[in-house]
Amino acid sequence: MSSHAPLYDLVSRPRRLRTNPAMRRFAAENRVHPEELILPAFVKEGISKPVEIQSMPGVVQHTVDSLKQAAAEAVELGLGGIMLFGIPETRDAVGSASLEEDGILNHAIAQVRAEVGDDIVVMSDLCLDEFTDHGHCGVLDDDGVVDNDETLRIYAEMGVAQAQAGAHMVGPSGMMDGQVGVIRAALDSAGSQDVSVLAYSAKYNSAFYGPFREAVDSALTGDRKTYQMDPSNRREALHELQLDLDEGADMVMVKPAMSYLDILRDVAEVSPVPVSAYQISGEYAMIEAAAGNGWIDRDAAVKESVLSIKRAGANSILTYYAAELARWYRQDN
Ligand code: PBG
Repeated sequence: MSSHAPLYDLVSRPRRLRTNPAMRRFAAENRVHPEELILPAFVKEGISKPVEIQSMPGVVQHTVDSLKQAAAEAVELGLGGIMLFGIPETRDAVGSASLEEDGILNHAIAQVRAEVGDDIVVMSDLCLDEFTDHGHCGVLDDDGVVDNDETLRIYAEMGVAQAQAGAHMVGPSGMMDGQVGVIRAALDSAGSQDVSVLAYSAKYNSAFYGPFREAVDSALTGDRKTYQMDPSNRREALHELQLDLDEGADMVMVKPAMSYLDILRDVAEVSPVPVSAYQISGEYAMIEAAAGNGWIDRDAAVKESVLSIKRAGANSILTYYAAELARWYRQDN
């Protein structure tokens, strides 16, 4: 008997498509392109140079100038979008600085838009948590509970202010009921029909937002369990999706990404509008911490994590790795 005679007649040998890099590249079912990536970026009022965020090594709180540079680089790298978060110097109970034309976020939107024009989608976080002195995503009623409908009034004005500053797309992330519809109506009556809404449809109450609290110098002491979704719920994500679609969402998002890939898959399967996912601060921090200890291969882990989000069904991905991924993509292609 020849030594080449098979022990068993294998009809299919999946390993054939894994034999070398060219074959693997050719057989790859999913890949991540720069234009699918959105870079979240923080801009802080009153600083003269960028401030490093300890729990997110490599990510900074930008000055307006360094933010403009980051935006220009995002254009140069071919990213799809940049999502802006503002950190004001002064906060109050109702988040007044979120509405002021020269408030840090609105100012930064205008500056970035002047820098990049229509070469990249300029997005803005539409939420009060960075602007309130109690750190909640909405205003509080007399009992200290986040007041849904009073918050909606402010969100509507915030949406208009951000659109007037130059945002192409606003991203309401506060999980108030009715937020998409109220913002849509306000934008329309202010003549901003073309400004789109990226709905944070399924945003879960996650421990993995931890590092973001440092990133925005959060004042929060309690938690967000009365407005963000319960991590145990799957069906509810489809309800939130349906409401946001009915209210006019142009795109929808699932957040966080990695612990919620099942939800992302569910939403991606039924959503008639593009689906985004947010690889959040804690996901970033976990990779950095493990890699920093030499426990995982950083670059491979970054690529695999983002690829998993794509594979689960995301059309676009917010990730703090956006610029780095785009640079790698450029080297490889
Ligand atoms: C709220 C908001 C949060 C994030 C984005 N928008 C924090 C929260 O909901 O507690 C988290 C993003 C991240 O963790 O990277 N405006």
